[in-house]
Amino acid sequence: MHYGGDYNPEQWPESVWPQDVARMREAGVTMVSLGIFSWSRIQPAEGEFDFAWLDRVIDLLHEGGIAVDLATATASPPPWMHEHYPDVLPVTAQGVMLGPGSRQHYAPSSPTYRRLAGDLVAALAQRYVDHPAVVMWHVNNEYGCHVHEDHSENAQRAFREWLERRYGTVDALNEAWGTAFWSQRYTGFGQVRTPAAAPYSHNPGQLLDFKRFTSDMLLECYLMEKEILLEAGAKQPITTNFMGAFKPANYRQWVAHLDVVTDDCYPDPNDAESFRDAAFQRDLVRSLKPHVPWLLMEQASNALNWRPSNAPKAPGQMEALSWQAVGRGADGVLFFQWRQSRAGAEKFHSAMLPHAGTDTRTWREVVRLGRDLATLPELPAGQAGARVALVFDWEAWWAIESPDHPHNGIDYLAIIQRWYRALHRAHVAVDIVGPDQVHDRYQLAFAPLLYLLTDSGAQALTSFVDGGGHLVAGPFTDVVDARDQFRDGGYLTQLRDTLGVTVEDFGALVSPGGGPGESEARASGACGDFTGGFLAEEVHAGGADVVAEFTTGRRHGDAALTRNVHGAGVGWYLATVPDEAGVDTLVRHFLDDAGVAPVLGGVPAHVDVSTRGDVVTLINFGSAAVTVDVQGQDLLADAPVTSVTLAPFGVAVVRRQR
Ligand code: GLA
Repeated sequence: MHYGGDYNPEQWPESVWPQDVARMREAGVTMVSLGIFSWSRIQPAEGEFDFAWLDRVIDLLHEGGIAVDLATATASPPPWMHEHYPDVLPVTAQGVMLGPGSRQHYAPSSPTYRRLAGDLVAALAQRYVDHPAVVMWHVNNEYGCHVHEDHSENAQRAFREWLERRYGTVDALNEAWGTAFWSQRYTGFGQVRTPAAAPYSHNPGQLLDFKRFTSDMLLECYLMEKEILLEAGAKQPITTNFMGAFKPANYRQWVAHLDVVTDDCYPDPNDAESFRDAAFQRDLVRSLKPHVPWLLMEQASNALNWRPSNAPKAPGQMEALSWQAVGRGADGVLFFQWRQSRAGAEKFHSAMLPHAGTDTRTWREVVRLGRDLATLPELPAGQAGARVALVFDWEAWWAIESPDHPHNGIDYLAIIQRWYRALHRAHVAVDIVGPDQVHDRYQLAFAPLLYLLTDSGAQALTSFVDGGGHLVAGPFTDVVDARDQFRDGGYLTQLRDTLGVTVEDFGALVSPGGGPGESEARASGACGDFTGGFLAEEVHAGGADVVAEFTTGRRHGDAALTRNVHGAGVGWYLATVPDEAGVDTLVRHFLDDAGVAPVLGGVPAHVDVSTRGDVVTLINFGSAAVTVDVQGQDLLADAPVTSVTLAPFGVAVVRRQR
């Protein structure tokens, strides 16, 4: 179990470093991420390296028994780079060049940036690849976190090359993008540009490919560095830190190239329900690389600096959120950062060692958590044994949030998280997977808003139901193919037989307060009553049973929820986006119908329950104490228990008796 944080010793005089190491030992720190923003210190000029200070820091940490997750330091280029190579800077869709003075001011597709970053990585690797303190390589930092897309001339060239690799001929590109529309037909790749500012809507195929390209450019940067590390003989695991459900980077494609998934997570302490979205993020990163424990690479010990208002965490809240990560498969808890900065944009951001010193609640909590983590026995790897899959797909996300749809206010992630929260309140273990990963390990799979459905995804969902799985699909699902084009034969062409319905119209509703027209559609049936928004589709049940009908508005009396027995399984189709209460009602019904049991029964909704092999973690995120029956060995108290009483933010980690 690793414990620690980002360590930025270059911000401090050398006399502070030994104190840092002593304090780290006091806090139970086992590993720090070193050098993430040290480029200008390591390389004061092109071709000139200063490693002496870094040698001393690494040796000092090593003598103190602290392992090093060594960063490649390429996340924030030094001032000499843009001085000599201004073309490395990224450009927004509006044509604004993003200048230096902050961080991440580089175009991922810039050959100059890649060459210079590569030089730095090669020099670092050569020097430290065999250093016994270095146990992991931390490539770059949060790829794309600030620069979500780039329209520089480097990007123009790289986008054309990427398209040429993908399509081979310009005719194939024209076909994929449907450029017969609006006179967009290209006669050469040289005519194609990134979808930057334009008079009106862009070609949706082009938008989708630009998203793919952007994710690929960032991944290429990672792979370039990884290759250099491996060539230098790196034996340590190599990683880069993820940001959960981060739209610009399709982590599901990246993950094969990471030895260990590491993730940064910053739930808002002002939001009493943010722990559920944090749980979603943990389950997502756990599901990205099953069987391999992941690391919580960054979180805050207390307040942040970057929200409009940065509330402190409540007493115990940081520890509760840390245990949530461990319960959901993390083998390490780390922070941004070790010592609070005294200068710079993040000086108000909390740290393990606060500016106010060690006589602080933050420090006491940090020390206590370090001690508690150290008492844990080895935990089983990150499998939750989930029987429920929630489909969350980057390509569907990109495509559904393209403009010019029946309803243009759909926030894909927010709706997926709405379903997750209902499953979380029901204390059911959930894997968060791509459509291709839905298979017979699961009993029940949810695929809401799977607007873009690939052939292979459709095949996986179809055989899942054929083989006995229960699939909940819709609305606005199976609408387009991987090019964002309609398939022949209407909508729902791939899942029609499985679901036993056809979709005639999407029946857009207005957003609440969004002007005249219906903003919600109520429905009622054997599953209970629920209210939907965004869409009230016109669905015709072929072989499927109508389980709920719309009871209001223009769809009054029509199917709102259908159930189709197909093969050995069941295909549900939902014709609207249920609100939070509706999702709760429906989730209960679907779980019952599929016979899925909670991890633990009789637990209040605000208690977070997770499993990791035979270990169950219970965390009380409510404001009153609760007692929960659970039998086994309490690993923190090292005592057998038949029930645990949890104060607010109280935690129990229990190895269950078989
Ligand atoms: C990100 C970055 C860190 C730091 C934190 C602040 O996660 O990786 O360098 O800026 O945010 O919350």
